Amino acid sequence: MSNEKNSDVGKEEIEHLNDSLEYIVIDMIDYGSFGDVLKVKDESNNAIYAMKQIKYRGNFQDDPCIISEIYCLTHLKHKNIIRMHEILIDSGEIQIIMEYAQRENLERYMDQNEHIEFHHKYKIYSQILEGIKYCHSVDIAHRDITPVNILLTEDYVVKIADFGLAVKCFDDDGKPMLCTDYLGRASYLPPEVLSQKPFLPKPADIWSIGVTLLYLLFHSIPFKGFHPEILEDQLNHTWTGFIHDFCEKNGCRLKVQIIDIIESLLQIESNKRRNICDLVRSWHEVSPEELYDKSK
Ligand SMILES: Nc1ncnc2c1ncn2[C@@H]1O[C@H](COP(=O)(O)OP(=O)(O)O)[C@@H](O)[C@H]1O
Ligand SMILES: [Mg+2]
Repeated sequence: MSNEKNSDVGKEEIEHLNDSLEYIVIDMIDYGSFGDVLKVKDESNNAIYAMKQIKYRGNFQDDPCIISEIYCLTHLKHKNIIRMHEILIDSGEIQIIMEYAQRENLERYMDQNEHIEFHHKYKIYSQILEGIKYCHSVDIAHRDITPVNILLTEDYVVKIADFGLAVKCFDDDGKPMLCTDYLGRASYLPPEVLSQKPFLPKPADIWSIGVTLLYLLFHSIPFKGFHPEILEDQLNHTWTGFIHDFCEKNGCRLKVQIIDIIESLLQIESNKRRNICDLVRSWHEVSPEELYDKSK
């Protein structure tokens, strides 16, 4: 999905959209994979929302992504999960009206702000963990945790969004669900997903949270390219060299406590990864002021 803001969206196009919507479109936020995401205004009270348009063919109830998104946005209620306002269903299109996160996604925010203090990143990460902890506590796994699906409000409140790939972690008989669809943004997916082995969704989220931590700390990630390259890098633990190179270049040393956390998330064997509650506990033990050891 493109993460570039569409500044060229034609005025005519917006006016055309306005004819058909109950909300007034005021800007284009992003091109989504299934439709656009727009900034809209409810004329009756001037409230601003984001509208995610999802185009569909046939019966939308047959589309697992649409059903997951609607189910999760209807059921998940937490300060770090994007709040849905209403859903409009039209023939061929669903419009999800949700709270508008003014700073949009974390990737864009990081791109636009080169120097972000660690204590600020610390708070952002704490909130990501709180949002995922809540999802996992109600046995929902997100399965597409990446910086573009993590949104930020004006006051830097994290809002996790995009539940199109989310799944319940247990079936109706209470048995753990093994996923066999291998979707999501490859650079954030764990080895078991890239190698297409049936996988448990919560530990897969934990891996993605680990890569997200690297992104937040270094504004870059060690896993790039196509699936086979990424998988090879994962199995070779290239993230350690990635951190080492960064520290060499910047003459610093990352706190051992943080390296330990990263290591516990980027375990190749999914059952060795820390669960979200343990992770939240360890993260709270990290000092929000210091990312690096003073001595080198
Ligand atoms: N509520 C929102 N407030 C602000 N920006 C949003 C909101 N929802 C989505 N966006 C923007 O639109 C992008 C695509 O939305 P997303 O729900 O992730 O769609 P997709 O399923 O196509 O990935 C996000 O990365 C973010 O930049
Ligand atoms: Mg998305």
